[in-house]
Amino acid sequence: MIRSVVVGCGSYLPERVLTNADLAKLVDTSDEWIVERTGIRQRHIAAEGEQTSDLALHAAKAALANAKLSADEIDLIVLATATPDETFPATACRVQAGLGMTRGFAFDVQAVCSGFVYALATADNFIKAGQAKTALVIGAETFSRIIDWTDRTTCVLFADGAGALVLKAEEGAGSINDRGVLTTHLHSDGRYHDLLYVDGGPSSTQTTGNLRMLGREVFRHAVVNLADVVKETLAAVGMQATDIDWLVPHQANKRIIDGTARKLGLSTDQVVLTVERHGNTSAASVPLALAEAAADGRIKRGDVVLLEAMGGGFTWGSALIRW
Ligand code: COA
Repeated sequence: MIRSVVVGCGSYLPERVLTNADLAKLVDTSDEWIVERTGIRQRHIAAEGEQTSDLALHAAKAALANAKLSADEIDLIVLATATPDETFPATACRVQAGLGMTRGFAFDVQAVCSGFVYALATADNFIKAGQAKTALVIGAETFSRIIDWTDRTTCVLFADGAGALVLKAEEGAGSINDRGVLTTHLHSDGRYHDLLYVDGGPSSTQTTGNLRMLGREVFRHAVVNLADVVKETLAAVGMQATDIDWLVPHQANKRIIDGTARKLGLSTDQVVLTVERHGNTSAASVPLALAEAAADGRIKRGDVVLLEAMGGGFTWGSALIRW
């Protein structure tokens, strides 16, 4: 069978760093509160005029260089974002143009913080169906643009960044020993709109709107949904938690990540953690973490890597990859 093998990854963080101490000057909060409740110490914020496609383009170029491929060898770009440059066209098309890529096709997917897992599953299915042989899968966000900077319950959490993977079709035996994406699992439940949403949009208010969240409720659902989807993923391929080398979770909150790792019986050094330095970069958080752990040599060829994420919608999902 055809497998989508990861042949490169890259990431990009805007230069400006915003610390918890900086935030304490904007709203009634403290470094102690933020670290204790979330694990976040600092985050990166895009410069004025720096758009989601700019961050995505940096990450895409880094991933292509890492894969030793040129843009004209890519058939498909799937870009996950909830903060597109414009209502249309897709930010993916801006990245396509920025790469000088005049063939293939590019589109965005919108599943908020689960966006990267959705984009990866989408690209994997295009590759398995034979409609693309190579794909660039990107998660890129400028959440700083939809944050209400007067709301301390949300502005301390979210941030900006981008990460990208390059997938390439390779023949596999159809077993769990194959390299590549082994299985993906996606879920959504639109009844939970009011717990995490943006209060604006082209068709409703004709404004961009701001992120609104009932954090405690989101936390409660995240713990349950992530545990369920991880169980479903392992069962689908007949693996045990002990077969996992690395957990690369969506980086929303250290307490949620610790809870998921504990349930799986994974040690903390098997978890790729970036939330302390990146904050919650929504669709960018998983590929940012992947790129970091691949670049520093933690994730090695042949390792089993479990990705999971949960976000507005609600949406949630997971992917199991043999690196
Ligand atoms: N600084 C200081 N105090 C704050 C604060 C801040 N930045 N934000 C909220 N508080 C206060 C609240 O007003 C509340 O005060 P009260 O008890 O006087 O009403 C108190 O802290 C506790 O608030 P609560 O919301 O219960 O805290 P929590 O322990 O649930 O932590 C989150 C809040 C948001 C960190 C946590 O719920 C969370 O991480 N949820 C998941 C969010 C998430 O991951 N979203 C993205 C999904 S993709």
